[in-house]
Order: sequence, then structure tokens, then C-alpha cells
Amino acid sequence: MEKNKIRVLSGQELSKVLTMKDCINAMKDAFSALWKGEVEVPLRTGIDMVPDNGGALFMPVYLSNISRVGIKTVMINKDNPGKGLPFIHAMVMLFDSHTGAPLALMDGEVITAMRTGAVSGLATTLLGREDAKVAAVIGTGTQGETQLEAVCCARKIDRAYVFDLDRDRAEAYAVKMSKKLEIEVVRATSEKMLLKADVVCTSTSSQKPVFDDANIANGTHINGVGSYRPDMAEIAPRTIQRAKVIVDQKKGCLSEAGDLIQAIQQGFITADHIHGELGDVINESVPARENDREITVFKSVGIAVQDLVTADLALKLAKQAGIGREIIL
Ligand SMILES: NC(=O)c1ccc[n+]([C@@H]2O[C@H](COP(=O)([O-])OP(=O)(O)OC[C@H]3O[C@@H](n4cnc5c(N)ncnc54)[C@H](O)[C@@H]3O)[C@@H](O)[C@H]2O)c1
Repeated sequence: MEKNKIRVLSGQELSKVLTMKDCINAMKDAFSALWKGEVEVPLRTGIDMVPDNGGALFMPVYLSNISRVGIKTVMINKDNPGKGLPFIHAMVMLFDSHTGAPLALMDGEVITAMRTGAVSGLATTLLGREDAKVAAVIGTGTQGETQLEAVCCARKIDRAYVFDLDRDRAEAYAVKMSKKLEIEVVRATSEKMLLKADVVCTSTSSQKPVFDDANIANGTHINGVGSYRPDMAEIAPRTIQRAKVIVDQKKGCLSEAGDLIQAIQQGFITADHIHGELGDVINESVPARENDREITVFKSVGIAVQDLVTADLALKLAKQAGIGREIIL
């Protein structure tokens, strides 16, 4: 019996084929499918690896409308940076759900960064003010890069203020991103500079809010991607209370997003304050932004269907371009 070929794609190869614009469109399909009930996606399974000072996350998903099953495995090893190794390793496997045949094996870090940026780009398109020109990014790591790239795809941004506890990292980011996106990117010298931002992205690993509510102006749209555990939070609870809050998925956010869980525990909001999911906004079952003074917050913890549609898109584009190599197991 003949075995099928599996395409292997490295991070570099994925970066060659994936554009942010295409990924944002793919997110629209993913969240529409989720809204229509075409996605089978359990909450991610985590394993604490205490003796190894790390953890493993497994994110399986089935998307019936494109006949694909995927799983992303993320390994987090906290001692790695000290050994000169990456903090996170990740890999995505893609299968054909009709036959069960494995189709592709690819780097999970580029897929994650692109899809996490892309969903914020989609949220900014739907919720940000039309006239947004100034962005701010708090947390200038891998996710911070694709957050700004995506916001620039969604709106005509001409300037970005960037914040990081690590000053050198913020400065290096400013140089790299201003060249890449051809906009002015400057390291912020005061938190008050947030008041000038129309779109704010938070992409840190912080356990407590990374800004004061007094520094968020009316009309701002915020994308919060960093916190993914109840003990992590980036967005001030008072800002959550003032804002129209849209989430990637209610179930996931109410069990993982510290920004919302802590705001509920501290009595700022109840779970009903969550206005809806991104799919509700795409399908217009809840209104998006209703005026220019409203603060909107999009909170994402990440859903496996984002990885699946991005991996499927990458596979199609890589096949067309003859990129990657094929193996038979
Ligand atoms: N929502 C999602 O789908 C999704 C996907 C991937 C990663 N994440 C999460 O996003 C976060 C960022 O990921 P990354 O890979 O870019 O991490 P990273 O470690 O490369 O970058 C995080 C940056 O945030 C900075 N930082 C930390 N606390 C800060 C604070 N209080 N103020 C300003 N800067 C601060 C750090 O100095 C660092 O430069 C992580 O928590 C990660 O788990 C979320």
C-alpha cells in the first residue's frame, strides 16, 4: 500500500509563504466556522513538568468544512534561555480528516506568532476606530512584532510607541519594526504616551496590569494577547470595566484569561460584561464599535483552530511555490 508524502516546513519557509494579510483573512474563516459550530476544539491539555522546570501544552482541533485535523504541541522549558536554548519549542501536525493521512509537519513558533498577530489584526479591523493612526505595543517579544504588523495591516498607522521592561529589547524592536513596516516606531519614555495611542497591544508575560487605567483615552481599542493563566493579567480591571469586551472564545477566556477572571473576582465586572465572541462580531449578532468614544478590548488566549487554518494555508502556498521538502514515514 502506498504511503502519502508529508511536507515538512521550517520556520524560515513559513515566513516566506505566509503574509499577514492572508492570515487575517484566514482568521475570519476560522472564527466564522467556530461560530457556526463547524469546529471541534476541546480546551487545551497541559502537563506540568516540575522536575524539568517547564510544561507541555497540547492543542487538538478538527475543522469539518476543510476536512482537516491538527494538533500543536508547545514545550516550555524555563531553564532554556540560561542554556542558550529557546524558551519555547512548538510543532504543528496536520492531517486529512477523510482518510486520516498525515499531510504536514511544521514549525509551530512562526504559525503561533502569525495567527496571534492575525487575530488581533482582525479584531482591530472590526473594533478599532476607522481613523486610528497611532499604535502602542507593550511587550516587544516575538508576539509584539506580529501584533504591530497586524495592526498596520488593519489601519493606516504612521507611528507606534513601544514599551518593555527590557529597554535594550524595546530599542532593538523599534529599529527593526520601523524598517520593516516603514512607520515611525519609538521606545516610549513615559506611560502617559499611551494616551496618544488609538490601538494598544499588550503582549507580555506579566502577572499584573501593565498600564494604569488613567492612561487609556476614550476611543482606544486594546488587543490583549499575553495572559493565558488565571494568575496572569495585563489589562487594568478598571479599563475592562469601562470597555466593551470581546473575546476569542468565552469558555477559554473564563477559564484562562486572568485579565477577566481577576476583574470578576475583584468585583469590577461579572461574566455577563463579556459582550460577545469575535465570531459574533463577524456575523453581526452583536454590534461592534458603536461610537468613537467607546473603549473596546479584544482578549485572546488562543484557539487551536487559528493554528489549523494558518497551517492549512501555509501548506497550500508552500505546495504552489514548491517550498519545503517531502518525506514518507
Ligand atoms: N493569546 C495567544 O494566542 C498567545 C499566543 C502566543 C503567546 N502568547 C503569550 O504572549 C506573551 C508574550 O509572548 P512572547 O513569545 O512575545 O514572549 P517574550 O518573552 O518573547 O516577550 C515578552 C516581552 O514582554 C516584556 N514584559 C514582561 N512584563 C512586562 C511589563 N510589565 N511591562 C512591559 N514589558 C513587559 C518582556 O521583557 C519581554 O520582552 C506570553 O505570555 C505568551 O504566552 C499568547
